[in-house]
Amino acid sequence: MAELGVNIDHVATVRQARRTYEPDPVWAATLAELGGADGITIHLREDRRHIQDRDLRVLRETVTVKLNLELACDEGVLDIACQVRPEQATLVPEKREEVTTEGGLDIVSNRQAVARAVGKLRDAGIIVSLFLDPDASQIAVAAELGVHAVELHTGQYATARGELQRQELAKLVIAGKQITELGMTLHAGHGLNYQNVKPVAAISAMHELNIGHSIVSRAIMVGMERAVREMKSLISS
Ligand code: PXP
Repeated sequence: MAELGVNIDHVATVRQARRTYEPDPVWAATLAELGGADGITIHLREDRRHIQDRDLRVLRETVTVKLNLELACDEGVLDIACQVRPEQATLVPEKREEVTTEGGLDIVSNRQAVARAVGKLRDAGIIVSLFLDPDASQIAVAAELGVHAVELHTGQYATARGELQRQELAKLVIAGKQITELGMTLHAGHGLNYQNVKPVAAISAMHELNIGHSIVSRAIMVGMERAVREMKSLISS
């Protein structure tokens, strides 16, 4: 059964809307754990639009499940990651003007920068995952860089409908097979919600799903603990 990493960035987004102290992502992480989260995921963006350095430091102390830090290949954030040492780091592309992460990392074109970041994180004892599109050439380079895991970008699958969605799912299945055959662990995330998660959770050898926006959206209505429990039961059924 795939593990659930709950991304709590958008709890911090609401707090930052008023630059105040509530809602606190630290509380949200505790409630997500009580709901059965296997991991807590946060993205420390260069522009600090939601998660702040303090959140990362406090969560490092309080989270008792896996802490997964998403970050760009940015020296400043990489240094912070190596000091705080979450269990896992997921390298993602980042653009200041984007609303959310828009695509996978291009490690074919940016191989040197990504290799440097991977080496730095690994030397700090952190498990490294790369966020990639379901693209055979990108996945081949990930294996060459010796990363532990690849998180497949499910955004295209999540926004497609009907036959197009089936085609996107097929791409994820093929890419997942390549990832595991190359000896890496399979993760997936982005745009997954209560309606579309099941087929992705059912992909062979799926190890971890990282889900944020839909869980935080539901948590506003029904509470974090219940929102996480409901997602967990969809993943496991
Ligand atoms: N995985 C990665 C690498 C991401 O960048 C994000 C968005 O921060 C997610 C998963 C979660 O996406 P969503 O908020 O759409 O569930």
